[in-house]
Amino acid sequence: MSQPDSSAVKQTVPSQVTVTAGEKSVILPVHTGTLGNSCVDIAKLPKETGLFTYDSGFMATASCRSAITYIDGDNGVLMYRGYPIEQLSEHSSFLEVAYLLMNGELPNQQESAKFEHEVTHHTMMHEAFRTFLFGFRHDAHPMAMLVGMLGSMASFYHNELDLEDPEQRRMAAIRLIAKVPTIAAACYRYSIGWPIGYPKNNLEYVTRFLHMMKEVPSEPLELSPMAAKAMDLLFILHADHEQNASTSTVRLVGSTGANPYACVAAGVAALWGPAHGGANEAVLKMLEEIGRPENVQSAIDKAKNKESGFRLMGFGHRVYKNFDPRAKIIREMCHKVLAELGVNDPLLEVAMRLEEAALKDEYFVQRKLYPNVDFYSGIIYKALGIPTEMFTVMFAIARTAGWVAHWLEQQTDPEAKIGRPRQIYTGYAARDYAGMDKR
Ligand code: ACO
Repeated sequence: MSQPDSSAVKQTVPSQVTVTAGEKSVILPVHTGTLGNSCVDIAKLPKETGLFTYDSGFMATASCRSAITYIDGDNGVLMYRGYPIEQLSEHSSFLEVAYLLMNGELPNQQESAKFEHEVTHHTMMHEAFRTFLFGFRHDAHPMAMLVGMLGSMASFYHNELDLEDPEQRRMAAIRLIAKVPTIAAACYRYSIGWPIGYPKNNLEYVTRFLHMMKEVPSEPLELSPMAAKAMDLLFILHADHEQNASTSTVRLVGSTGANPYACVAAGVAALWGPAHGGANEAVLKMLEEIGRPENVQSAIDKAKNKESGFRLMGFGHRVYKNFDPRAKIIREMCHKVLAELGVNDPLLEVAMRLEEAALKDEYFVQRKLYPNVDFYSGIIYKALGIPTEMFTVMFAIARTAGWVAHWLEQQTDPEAKIGRPRQIYTGYAARDYAGMDKR
């Protein structure tokens, strides 16, 4: 694997910092990556000064070294393994991106064919695994089913969970990328009472998934090439995003030595929240509630009023304090899809008005709240006939590529340790047990 170009280091940073805490002082080393902020290594701080650091929400804390994805939030930059997201979106495919994330380099023709063959030939579910679905309530949310199904995957591969064996690790990653679409489509079909389909290996990854989701046994599915293209693009854009909440969850669970299926199931659970992957579903619900372009201003006003507890879903990002580069790409695709599929969706007009109004509004400008990737992805999914409750599941299919890449990287990280944050204790100081008669 080629090493990142060290000439890319732009910042002049000290190689160490001194922290003085009362009488004591400690010299802490500073680590610098190929790009991005340098980090003060605080490992010695508690031993030397008795102090921990406090950083709720990890606003200023790096949890690992990683060579997979780079984000420059101020300048709206996203790169996978050094390749700008704009170039990958234009020239690559989701499966190639998955290979890149996992292996560090783009595949040559032979490597690409082998990878595609391996993924394609691990798409089937064990028949006993399919029967798990029937234990869920008929109206269960597909994300609830996906978490449960993925967590149980380890039970089918218990003889192949030797984390010391690189080939077993690689196969687990392939299995996850291959089977997540099959499981996701099955969860959806179960929830609407359709027979569960089998993967068709003559189709490529995204088209295969769309067939598994939408085709009924009684008639063939006619799929617009634009649908597969748009879905592939969305999968590329969602494939990884460095140490986001779900990926950090995968790594935290992975740090305990848990198997990769359990780690990815935990990642899916973390993704579910509306502050993370659940936002695309929340965006659509919000647009439906706003309903008409005339109601946009009152929604903006409500979002500015802290007491309302309402936020504009699909706006703002922890890292991008400029435009989200994925939102730029997806916005263009959103228009193409709607034009080509002949969808005239009034919600798009609401979305456009909302974007326009928020970008002009002092509250949003001052706080650098721009539309994020989820703002447009929901509208595209809706145009493609994907039901709202499946939006976060779609995100999970794509992000599985990133989760397995991070899990694989963590397995060979010589600095990896069990993740174990500390706390500021705010409970009672020691007190004596009081018997029932004294309470
Ligand atoms: N609408 C209105 N106000 C907002 C919004 C929003 N969407 N997002 C942030 N703010 C305000 C906050 O109230 C706060 O205001 P203040 O400084 O007056 O107190 C300020 O902007 C900073 O907000 P924080 O919550 O501190 O920002 P943080 O970086 O912690 O949160 C987050 C980022 C969670 C994404 C937030 O912007 C949000 O809730 N957005 C809506 C949900 C969403 O779209 N999530 C998807 C994230 S992208 C992804 O996972 C793919």
